[in-house]
Amino acid sequence: MLSLGILISGRGSNMESILKAIKKQKIPINPAVVISNNPDAVGLKIAQKMGVKTEIIESKGFPGSRWDYDKKIIQVLSRHGVTEKNGLVCLAGFMRIISPEFIRKYKNRMLNIHPAMLPSFPGLHAQRQAVEYGAKYSGCTVHFVDDGVDTGPIILQAVVKVKDDDTEETLSKKILAKEHKIYPQAVKLFAEGKIKISGRKTFIKNQGR
Ligand code: GRF
Repeated sequence: MLSLGILISGRGSNMESILKAIKKQKIPINPAVVISNNPDAVGLKIAQKMGVKTEIIESKGFPGSRWDYDKKIIQVLSRHGVTEKNGLVCLAGFMRIISPEFIRKYKNRMLNIHPAMLPSFPGLHAQRQAVEYGAKYSGCTVHFVDDGVDTGPIILQAVVKVKDDDTEETLSKKILAKEHKIYPQAVKLFAEGKIKISGRKTFIKNQGR
């Protein structure tokens, strides 16, 4: 069976939605480890309560390069069976830029969720960007991670309407509810081997017909 590693930095609500779905929907993947770069991440406690192993690799004050830090993460992932052959890595609010070496090692095995309809509003504060731009719709995107900022092949997206009186906070809340639906769905599709990647596109088996 595949092994899943989830990387977080804070609240961990996407992590929680994935872990819950694995149990409830019997997704064929072993939730092997949750790793946080922040010792105070609330998500760590949630994972522990759900019986999932947690590890902290503190990034603040880390002596060494970005790749040195990522090597530590790879060591811990591998120790928990999340390898480049048999693993899936989900970034879930992990507030660090990942080194190209780490991305290459887990090529086509690393997912991220972004709170906008990519390629619109990549980078930080995507919900604020959408409100300030005056977009009428926004949403969220699950995508494979590549070398760019939120540029990897898109797996799933969900749309929400931006109302005239929406603020960054109200829009974030609406988008988060959709994130909690599509991230577990994408993990399920991956675990079931239903995602085919072709160039920068993905195709979901038995869909789109
Ligand atoms: C989410 O909005 C996600 O889209 C973004 O970071 C936030 C993480 O929230 N990448 P949580 O820690 O999963 O609650």
